[in-house]
Amino acid sequence: MSLTRTIETTSFSTFSSTRLKRTFQWNSINGHRSVSPEPIPKKSRIELHEFQTEEKQLSSFTIPAHQTVLLLHGKGQRYVLEPNYPVPNIKNDEELLIKVQYIGLNPIDWKSADFGFGIPQLPYISGRDLVGIVVRESQSDSRFKQGDVVFTASTDYRDLRKSAYQQFAVASTFNLSRVPKAVSRERVAGLGVAFVAAVLALGVCLGCDLTEVGGPNPRRILKSVKPEAIPVDQIEECLRGIEEEDAIKKGDWILIWGGSTTSAHVLSQLAKLIGLCVIKVVDMGKHGANLSQGSADLLVDNYDYARATEIIRKVTDGKLRFAVDTIGSKTAGLAQGCLGEDSHLVGLSGLPAHGSPGIKHHTVPIKNYHEVQEVGGSLMSWLETLLKHGQLSPPDTEVAPGALGGINDALDRMRRGEISGKRVVVKL
Ligand SMILES: NC(=O)c1ccc[n+]([C@@H]2O[C@H](COP(=O)([O-])OP(=O)(O)OC[C@H]3O[C@@H](n4cnc5c(N)ncnc54)[C@H](OP(=O)(O)O)[C@@H]3O)[C@@H](O)[C@H]2O)c1
Repeated sequence: MSLTRTIETTSFSTFSSTRLKRTFQWNSINGHRSVSPEPIPKKSRIELHEFQTEEKQLSSFTIPAHQTVLLLHGKGQRYVLEPNYPVPNIKNDEELLIKVQYIGLNPIDWKSADFGFGIPQLPYISGRDLVGIVVRESQSDSRFKQGDVVFTASTDYRDLRKSAYQQFAVASTFNLSRVPKAVSRERVAGLGVAFVAAVLALGVCLGCDLTEVGGPNPRRILKSVKPEAIPVDQIEECLRGIEEEDAIKKGDWILIWGGSTTSAHVLSQLAKLIGLCVIKVVDMGKHGANLSQGSADLLVDNYDYARATEIIRKVTDGKLRFAVDTIGSKTAGLAQGCLGEDSHLVGLSGLPAHGSPGIKHHTVPIKNYHEVQEVGGSLMSWLETLLKHGQLSPPDTEVAPGALGGINDALDRMRRGEISGKRVVVKL
């Protein structure tokens, strides 16, 4: 039997939520009191010197009119370098301009090109995770200064100005965090989208109240904003996805099928922070050594699906109520088979073709991160705090060669399933 039990021994227990609630205005907005939509705070109270800045490098820097980007000209094609593409313009006071330094590659970057989804126009600029330096400040939000090293998850795929596969990208300040000095830019480049997906899966789909650990309560925020602010195809998930009394809470088990993905890496750390008991299903031959030191209470090998299901049902006494699948509809079906009555299953990459009585299916309402400022701002503010206090470890990364020009080859490796247990990033 391939079964490993690992008790979490990281420093999460030393975490002081009280201190964090004092540090961030965002967190007090999202506390237990009833929430009303409020403007984004103009100033974070975090001391600026604790974040990376590169003012010297910028003293003689002029923003050019043109830049090199990577363009997709059609479904199924390779991305093509375009050296004479306009640098994107800022359109409102909340936006700023970033000189991109690192780009994190996500599975969606090759899947959307191969299968033709999430591409609102051609030619298209892809790329969702980026780290860079602020080169033009926002007019309305003075938290981010020229020279600050920042990162964003650019989930707003319809707005090419915000995409990552280019030398300069626009970002809304409520979708930004600064990179703390002690944290690797390269590793942070692989973090953004996975963090957003993990928080929304826990905080919206499974109804977790993250304020108890200094985070936001995104479901409560969404209930407090005007319904028309919420993307229409995600209203059901956001407002009626789970009842308050059903929500996941400290001490509950959570199953993560596909425990080696970046999303699982982040999700399990947040789950442990909350006090959940985490089960990860992984290929133990590949990941057993690494993950046995990580944030799971129980690792289960995925070699024999029936045996894995039997183990999970036995350990949880048939009462498992929460699961997240990170691989696809087939494994989501396997995760469904582990759940007991009155349960909730989140599919990051697909849900089972057939439901099961008493099991509710959920998808991550990711658009809310860029469409609802209160949601995006609260997530990025918390992320900055977690990184600054060493409470969240970004994924392991590998820097692929060739900068923008190396992305095609790196995506090929992802297509072939050659990237395992880490993010690939490129450095510009
Ligand atoms: N709905 C949303 O909003 C949302 C947000 C974020 C991510 N996602 C989706 O969630 C999934 C996980 O994303 P991620 O960024 O966390 O993944 P990731 O870090 O790129 O995942 C890497 C792991 O996935 C497994 N893998 C790689 N290629 C595979 C393949 N062809 N078939 C099956 N498994 C494969 C490998 O596991 P092993 O090495 O163990 O084999 C690898 O270690 C993706 O499908 C992504 O598109 C959705």
